[in-house]
Amino acid sequence: MTRLYLATDTSARAVGANRLAEAWANRPGLELVRTSSRGAFFLEPLVERDSPGGRMAWSNVGPDDLPQILAGSGGTPIDRIPFLAQQTRITFANFGVTQPLSLDEYVAHGGFQGMKRAQALSPDAIIGELKTSRLRGRGGAAFPVWTKWQVARETQADRKYVVANADEGDAGTYCDRMLMEGEPFRLIEGMLICARAIGATQGYIYCRQEYPSAARTVRAAVQKAERSGLLILDDKPFHLEVFVGAGSYVCGEETALLESLEGRRGVVRAKPPYPAVSGLYGRPTIVSNVLTFATVPSILARGGDWHASMGTERSKGTIALQIGGRVQHPGLAEVPFGLTLADVLERFGGGMAPGAKLKAVQVGGPLGSLFPSSRLDITICYDAFAEAGAILGHGGIVVFDDETDMVELARHFMAFAADESCGKCTPCRIGTVRGQEILEKVQAGRGRDEDLALLADLGETMKTASLCALGGRAPYPVLTAIEHFPHEFRQGVRG
Ligand SMILES: Cc1cc2nc3c(=O)[nH]c(=O)nc-3n(C[C@H](O)[C@H](O)[C@H](O)COP(=O)(O)O)c2cc1C
Repeated sequence: MTRLYLATDTSARAVGANRLAEAWANRPGLELVRTSSRGAFFLEPLVERDSPGGRMAWSNVGPDDLPQILAGSGGTPIDRIPFLAQQTRITFANFGVTQPLSLDEYVAHGGFQGMKRAQALSPDAIIGELKTSRLRGRGGAAFPVWTKWQVARETQADRKYVVANADEGDAGTYCDRMLMEGEPFRLIEGMLICARAIGATQGYIYCRQEYPSAARTVRAAVQKAERSGLLILDDKPFHLEVFVGAGSYVCGEETALLESLEGRRGVVRAKPPYPAVSGLYGRPTIVSNVLTFATVPSILARGGDWHASMGTERSKGTIALQIGGRVQHPGLAEVPFGLTLADVLERFGGGMAPGAKLKAVQVGGPLGSLFPSSRLDITICYDAFAEAGAILGHGGIVVFDDETDMVELARHFMAFAADESCGKCTPCRIGTVRGQEILEKVQAGRGRDEDLALLADLGETMKTASLCALGGRAPYPVLTAIEHFPHEFRQGVRG
């Protein structure tokens, strides 16, 4: 019997993985194992096979390639593929190796070691380990994780909640989806550790509706964990549920998410109080990103010092960069903080797609700043991005080529923010619409000199007076586009 491994997640299926599975089904002597994806999308469909020296891989496979794979010819050792070999895979270490819903395989690859250690520690000691690790939230705001946990632990309440933010609305990001489809037990384990530390009895995974496969996989994993008796904390049941959102970008903002979870329209709440004090149904709630929770099991298993030994001075551990747009090698690369943007694009992105010339790079989703090619020396860490007036956000990197119309791109992002604004605060509700109108005037060649100054003024108001980062960050793509590509905007101004 020959065993072949084939990635099963949405991105692998999008390029024909299921076609292979169907074509090769019921072949005598062939066992097809569906694994999680390694995130090297440019190589999918990627088929692997065991060999005495480790896994061999065949990339961009079609149904007719089976005889070659069975003959063992033409494959590459998986650990010699540069895109994968140059990464430091911790949270994504088992991707491509294990089957997403096999609890046995998760455990065999170190799963639930973190939880085991957490169960032997006091809640304060768990939080102490997080403090030593210096883990910061991966959802965008990069807040120290231990501080939130400590506040939620110290706040007295009859009930406390843990909520995984799986809304992942930033264009060009997909690491939460990959994690949920590829190793859902890791998310569950991280949430359980958090629940034990703060004394929570209930948890929710708030998954965006555009991720049906992720929601299905996590639901199945929760059921498995429950049946296996894993959802028990200090002899009491821990109730964990998957909740599917209704398709709103602002529902990724933690307080709008909580409103939505409570059954209301996703509208931002004023802060303070922060959710760690008064969150879901007014109770202490930890809302954290999927990847933040998924990082926690390794920290508990290997120690906070181990985690703090990776990365830069104030950005510790690894970051899952999601590279997309006009590069040769789109995909997910997990690396320690500290590389430059240029390094990442060259080493992992593989340079520009054939015939394309780099014009701009946007990091951090639709609210992220645009960098021209002269600014790619920036270090990938929270501080360098903050100093540059930019955000790392959720680690999405989108590369634009020289065919990109920057006025249209700026208009597109402002229109997106206007569409997605929850409408609660005036700077965002009105500012995004006015911003869009001015950009449309410029685009139509009817702009006036004062319009660009007006956009800058409007941007300042939105940055300082918006209730949340949707309004507060919406001006950044526009203002950085004007800063770095002024001539394109000047063309639309009549004086
Ligand atoms: C408009 C908007 C959208 C957001 N979308 C997400 C999201 O999709 N996923 C996420 O984890 N955080 C998102 N955030 C950040 C959350 O408000 C919050 O900071 C995060 O869930 C906290 O988790 P962390 O501490 O693990 O980073 C968003 C924030 C804003 C303002």
